[in-house]
Amino acid sequence: MKPLPEIAARLKPHAQSAASRSYSPYSKFRVGAAVSGVDGEVFTGCNVENASYGLTQCAERNAISAAIAGGVRVGTLTSLLVYTPGDTVCPPCGACRQVMHEMMARESRVISCCDGDVYKVWTRKEYLPDPFVPEISDG
Ligand code: THU
Repeated sequence: MKPLPEIAARLKPHAQSAASRSYSPYSKFRVGAAVSGVDGEVFTGCNVENASYGLTQCAERNAISAAIAGGVRVGTLTSLLVYTPGDTVCPPCGACRQVMHEMMARESRVISCCDGDVYKVWTRKEYLPDPFVPEISDG
């Protein structure tokens, strides 16, 4: 895995661009995410809200879905960075943590950042210590 400062510097501009395309007329809270796997290709997502609030899609899960649609194999994503504008770091929600756990590599990390210099970092065990993991076949 690449060193944290290097991967954060690489992913952050992608997540910032994605956040600028956020569709968030209800919360006015822009979120952007960028993920990369072993070959370094970057996939992005932003939050996409809906008038039926519960249909809102988070930036992190949209980025992961883009990676899967782009051909990344499940379990090979090594870094995911979430960006929110402003000076407060926003940790990923519980639903996104469950999806990250299933889709990301065993040795991977999730990074949250904002416009300041604060970066919060979690390993897979740290962001979801007791995951729900039923038996699954390859889907
Ligand atoms: N949101 C995300 O995109 N990711 C998270 O991890 C937490 C919340 C979005 C959903 C909604 O559009 C807005 O932030 C406010 O909750």
